[in-house]
Amino acid sequence: MGAHSLTWSSPSPPLNLGPDEVHLWRASLALPSAVVVELYHSLSDEERERAQRYHSATARHRFLAGRGLLRTILGSYLRVKGHQIAFRQSDHGKPLLDDPGTGLYFNVSHSHELALFAITRRGEVGVDVERVRPFPNEVSVAERFFSPCECQRLRTLAPEHRTEAFFHVWTRKEACLKALGVGLAQGLERVEVNLGPDEPARLLRLDGEERRAAHWSLLNLVPAPGYVGALALEGKDFRLLGWHWPEG
Ligand SMILES: CC(C)(COP(=O)(O)OP(=O)(O)OC[C@H]1O[C@@H](n2cnc3c(N)ncnc32)[C@H](O)[C@@H]1OP(=O)(O)O)[C@@H](O)C(=O)NCCC(=O)NCCS
Repeated sequence: MGAHSLTWSSPSPPLNLGPDEVHLWRASLALPSAVVVELYHSLSDEERERAQRYHSATARHRFLAGRGLLRTILGSYLRVKGHQIAFRQSDHGKPLLDDPGTGLYFNVSHSHELALFAITRRGEVGVDVERVRPFPNEVSVAERFFSPCECQRLRTLAPEHRTEAFFHVWTRKEACLKALGVGLAQGLERVEVNLGPDEPARLLRLDGEERRAAHWSLLNLVPAPGYVGALALEGKDFRLLGWHWPEG
């Protein structure tokens, strides 16, 4: 699969994040209602209002679970309660910790019932996860979102391998864009990635330059059966640890 082999462990608090570490958390969003009610108390008014706007009860439940878990996990590193955490947004909507003094960077992705949270002190990070699902028109969708080279490589694959390869490219590109924190609409052409599900993920070009891309790390993830994902950050030497929520 070319996926980074990552073991998912249950950590015991207190959580410590070394300067060279990246912690990747995976969690199910299909939490019992009682747990989500508990998490709800840690949310801001704005987050509660956003939750109200979901028409589907399942989508609302997953949003509340995801935001509540994000606050709980960040709070474990910062030694504060989830409700004490304040977020702000970058110009393109990337959630950031309001207090830059924490030195903590994070990014979140969710698909269906699974969420991934990447936390590090190294700098901006991006993570993306997608449930691999039947996608009959992947080539025409790729023509809209992928570079000509990425599309060409997708077309050369046997049809039975295309769906998985499509989601690998999608998550690799999104993870890079989310690390850059740019809006996806403006940023899609900035990153070009490799395609093969069996190859280690690689950022091939950033803004058309191989030299700039060479400084980046991009990792394939298979966080659960039926899901693929990717993690992106600038720099090479770091230690990646996988944690499974609930902790302890
Ligand atoms: C949010 C976005 C960055 C990604 O959306 P997505 O893949 O559907 O959703 P994910 O679950 O992976 O990520 C959502 C999370 O990313 C974070 N996020 C939002 N904007 C972000 C940005 N500009 N940069 C980084 N992270 C961002 C938020 O934490 C968000 O969580 P929330 O919805 O609970 O607030 C969105 O900007 C988007 O435009 N998606 C369009 C998809 C697309 O064009 N894909 C082409 C890939 S080839």
